[in-house]
Amino acid sequence: MSSKPAKQRFDDSFYNNITYIGVVLSLFVLVCELFLFAIDFASPRPSVYLGLITYCFLPPLLILGLILIPTGALLKRKHILHSGKPRPILIDLSLATHQNAVVIFMIGTVLLLVMTAIGSYKAFNYTESTGFCGLTCHQIMKPEYTTHSHSPHERVRCVECHVGSGADWYLRYKMAGTKMVVKTFDGRYHRPTPAPLQNLRPAKEICEQCHWPGKLFSAVLLNKVYYADDPTQTPPWKINLLMRVGAGKVGGAGVHAHMYFSNEIFYVADDAKRQNITWVKTIDKAGKVTIYTTKDSPYKKVNPPQDKVRRMDCIDCHNRATHRFEAPDVLMNRALAQGAISSSIPMIKSEGVEVLGKTYSSTAAAEKQIREGLMDYYSKKQPGYFAGHQAAVENAIAEIIRLYRKNFFPEMKSRWDAYPDNIGHMISLGCFRCHDNEHKSAGGRVISRKCTLCHVIVEQGSGTSTEKNLEGLEFKHPFNDPGDDSWKTANCSDCHTGS
Ligand code: HEC
Ligand code: HEC
Ligand code: HEC
Ligand code: HEC
Ligand code: HEC
Ligand code: HEC
Repeated sequence: MSSKPAKQRFDDSFYNNITYIGVVLSLFVLVCELFLFAIDFASPRPSVYLGLITYCFLPPLLILGLILIPTGALLKRKHILHSGKPRPILIDLSLATHQNAVVIFMIGTVLLLVMTAIGSYKAFNYTESTGFCGLTCHQIMKPEYTTHSHSPHERVRCVECHVGSGADWYLRYKMAGTKMVVKTFDGRYHRPTPAPLQNLRPAKEICEQCHWPGKLFSAVLLNKVYYADDPTQTPPWKINLLMRVGAGKVGGAGVHAHMYFSNEIFYVADDAKRQNITWVKTIDKAGKVTIYTTKDSPYKKVNPPQDKVRRMDCIDCHNRATHRFEAPDVLMNRALAQGAISSSIPMIKSEGVEVLGKTYSSTAAAEKQIREGLMDYYSKKQPGYFAGHQAAVENAIAEIIRLYRKNFFPEMKSRWDAYPDNIGHMISLGCFRCHDNEHKSAGGRVISRKCTLCHVIVEQGSGTSTEKNLEGLEFKHPFNDPGDDSWKTANCSDCHTGS
């Protein structure tokens, strides 16, 4: 002690470079943290990147700084002991300066613990936020983040469907998420991201939390408008369909009732995307079991292994209710119907569908080539029209690029044809995976594809030749294409690919 200079308040052990670095680091991080904490509390809409820094990146640095302080002191103390000097006393409570330091240290620790508690709570909330999921892995998640942000589930946070409650699911997903974050950095990830069919939580635990299953939907009216290649030559074709959704826990009718409440339906698919269904089993309310198989099903004689059998639930039909990548044909029909693109532009439907459906190397390249492609077409192939209507063409190009940005993600190869939508049967097999008259039971029952099974057409046609009937109309194939009755037996998706 006698060797201590007059101004030195603490034991020699504390005067070393490691401790200095620890003090400077913790003070610096502490000041930053207090500042960012204040901003985060005060701002009405928390920022994603601010959250990442405040709750994920800085706290470990603060702890590192605090650990360095005693580490430096202990190392120095060891050194002093070895050199045979008198044994240093780290803390001497009879000294006023040491008393103060201990009090400050204790208050500091309590403060730090409180801040850690608030911080961990905020960090937990933060990793549960849509922004964290969508933006941390900006590149990988952009397609799902973007489609989510213009879906009916925009206000439902990612974790409500993908993680849900319960520690086991939380851990399972955070582990998968961490692996994914690592992969972002070295680029070893799938493009497009595979649909999480095996890992998605059961619909009972997610969808049914908000969509009460017994809720009665009487019917849902779908209004569809279709345009021919050249909308200036052919008037649009309209189809209004009344979907028999139905439900109600007992005795209901309609899609939900039959497919969910009156029957339990199990199936086996032979491919990863669950498109090729070869075995279906129903158990009705009375307990009667019926098994349907396709002609070339491997399970005609033997039962499929239990781990391949899936019980049908909401996600088997509504798999793309959130991340909807729309097809070029659908996008152009809708934009024309809504007037976002003028239907007085010659050939705009087929030109739009063509540029949207092409593959591009990046979003930037796509925007450039879509603009150039359409400009080229209208200035060279339609010079007469273009001369008088440049603004309409410019507007259409801007809208087509906007549609592209919301639905196509070339960097991740994410687009409509990468993710089959199971709700209908136009562009992907959807309901026709089973309802194709090809799935037969031993007793001769088939899973029907009768056009009135799921919906009735209450209005169809174009211009003055529109027919209406609330009892239901027989489907007429629009624009009289393909000109024969092949739609009666072929799958719609054999010809309709979406582009
Ligand atoms: C309302 C429920 C719901 C919400 C909210 C939701 N998802 Fe999904 N997500 C799903 C379903 C269902 C699938 C599986 C789709 C399938 O099987 O085809 C899926 C699939 C995915 C996939 C796999 C790739 C794909 O497109 O199939 C990713 C990645 C994903 N979601 C990320 C997110 C992110 C990020 C958010 C938040 C911005 C989010 N999800 C919000 C239900 C949801
Ligand atoms: C946290 C609540 C919540 C959860 C969980 C949730 N949804 Fe929704 N869902 C909503 C809300 C809110 C709407 C929008 C209702 C509206 O616009 O009238 C909606 C709309 C829908 C629609 C109508 C879509 C349309 O095109 O209008 C479908 C279908 C749907 N949800 C299916 C599902 C499925 C399947 C799941 C499970 C993967 C699910 N939802 C999970 C709240 C939820
Ligand atoms: C057999 C396929 C199938 C299953 C299984 C199914 N649905 Fe549906 N659901 C439909 C169809 C078809 C519609 C009609 C609307 C459409 O075509 O988009 C519909 C409509 C809805 C709507 C109303 C959408 C609107 O536009 O108003 C909601 C919400 C919904 N379903 C939620 C669910 C939930 C939750 C489950 C699971 C408990 C479920 N569905 C199971 C096929 C199914
Ligand atoms: C995994 C196979 C499978 C898929 C996929 C499927 N279904 Fe079914 N569906 C069945 C089976 C099996 C029955 C019962 C047939 C029977 O009992 O005669 C059925 C019956 C129905 C019925 C009632 C038929 C009646 O007797 O009145 C409706 C409505 C229905 N399904 C709608 C749909 C819709 C809409 C879709 C697509 C969104 C769909 N199903 C997809 C297997 C399937
Ligand atoms: C198993 C149920 C089922 C059967 C059988 C069925 N449909 Fe559909 N159909 C649907 C569903 C579900 C949709 C709605 C998809 C959506 O939400 O956009 C639909 C949509 C349609 C549409 C609008 C297509 C679009 O996406 O623009 C047409 C047209 C149509 N069906 C015609 C037919 C014809 C013709 C038949 C008979 C060969 C038939 N359907 C048989 C379930 C069925
Ligand atoms: C043999 C091939 C073929 C089959 C099978 C077929 N279509 Fe088509 N469909 C066409 C052609 C060709 C057109 C006209 C091309 C165009 O204008 O987009 C067309 C146009 C349409 C359109 C309007 C055009 C648009 O914008 O999408 C609808 C709706 C349609 N078909 C529904 C169906 C339905 C529903 C089924 C199944 C029940 C079906 N088609 C089966 C060839 C087919």
